[in-house]
Parts: sequence; structure tokens; C-alpha cells
Amino acid sequence: MTGQKWKFVPITEKPDLESFDCGISELNDYLKKYAGQNHRKGLGSTYVLIPVEGEPVAAGYHTLSMAQVELRFLSEFQRKNLPKYPVPAVRLGRLAVDRQWQGTGLGEILLIDAIRRSVVAVQSVAAKYMIVDAKNKKAEEFYQRYGFQPFEGGSHSLVAAIDTLKELFAK
Ligand SMILES: CC(C)(COP(=O)(O)OP(=O)(O)OC[C@H]1O[C@@H](n2cnc3c(N)ncnc32)[C@H](O)[C@@H]1OP(=O)(O)O)[C@@H](O)C(=O)NCCC(=O)NCCS
Repeated sequence: MTGQKWKFVPITEKPDLESFDCGISELNDYLKKYAGQNHRKGLGSTYVLIPVEGEPVAAGYHTLSMAQVELRFLSEFQRKNLPKYPVPAVRLGRLAVDRQWQGTGLGEILLIDAIRRSVVAVQSVAAKYMIVDAKNKKAEEFYQRYGFQPFEGGSHSLVAAIDTLKELFAK
């Protein structure tokens, strides 16, 4: 943990994104060029982690949207007792931490916040699973620590039941 206090703001509050660098240019570019307009257009909600005090410089962000997952990507266990059509899900499309803060617990803070928001959303709009699009092997390993399982058939996406994820912050 960092000793700093953090808070989440929607990207529409215009936090300072200029210096953000998570080491993956696609995720940097998304935050700086597209996240704001996509948030406004209803294509993906982005929340940015900034310090409670001082300049509102982005230390991390996540982007959520509604989605569905086809049964063929689920394991036999995950498919159990489900109808034969795609299952409603929440997509954690992007999650990244600035290099300066990686390894200090912010990835976990971001993931738990994304799960909390999903849990609130599914009280009104049903979704059974959360799916994440990992950009590389390292990111996959990060998500697997929290119970996400790779899609069947091999891809960089992973899936976990929202009911199970809830337990991460219920402890
Ligand atoms: C992957 C990423 C989000 C992790 O965030 P982070 O702030 O560095 O991770 P945290 O400090 O919160 O680590 C939380 C736990 O996960 C572990 N962890 C972190 N990165 C990991 C990895 N790549 N593989 C396995 N475990 C990892 C940490 O050791 C820690 O466990 P501990 O509490 O037992 O020590 C971050 O490194 C990042 O933004 N990377 C570049 C962008 C990216 O790959 N995004 C993800 C998918 S799109």
C-alpha cells in the first residue's frame, strides 16, 4: 500500500491524464484519446483513480460496459444450469496503473472498485459474469489471482461469476 489516500472520479471530471503511462501504449492512448468520448456516448464508463489531496493526476483507471458471453467460452461448470443462449455479463474492458505506482496495491483497488460498481449495477440490470480482456500473459496472471478463469478455447479474455467476486470485498 502507498500511504496515499485515493479516490475515483468519472473521466468527465477531467483529471490530469497527460503523464499517464502504464507501459502499454494502447491503454495509455485509450485513456487520453477515447475514454472521455466513449464515456459520454455510453460506450464505456471510465473511472480514474487520483490522489485525494494535491493535483488530480491519474494513477490508474478502469472501463466498464455491459456485454454478453457466449456459452462456448464458459467451462462445463460455469455453463451448468444455464439456458442455451448467451449469458449477460459486465465487461471490464480496461484496467491499468501508472508505472510509478505499479506493485503498490492500486491494481487491486481498481479491480475491487470495478466489482463493486458491477454488483450495484446488477441489482437493477442482470449480469451473471464479469469478463476481462487481458492485454498479455502478465495481466492474465494478475486476474487469475482473483479467481478469473481463462475463456475456453484460448484467448486473452477471462471470466468469473459476479457472485463469487463479491466475496473479495465481503471479507
Ligand atoms: C496488471 C496491473 C493492473 C497490476 O496492477 P498493480 O497495481 O501493479 O498490482 P497490485 O500492486 O495491486 O497487486 C495486487 C496483487 O497482484 C499481484 N500481481 C501484480 N501484478 C501481477 C502479475 N502480473 N501477475 C501476477 N500477480 C500480480 C501482486 O503481487 C499483488 O499481490 P500481493 O498483494 O499478494 O503482493 C498493472 O501492473 C498494470 O497496469 N499493467 C499494465 C497494464 C495492464 O497489463 N493492464 C491489465 C489488463 S488490460
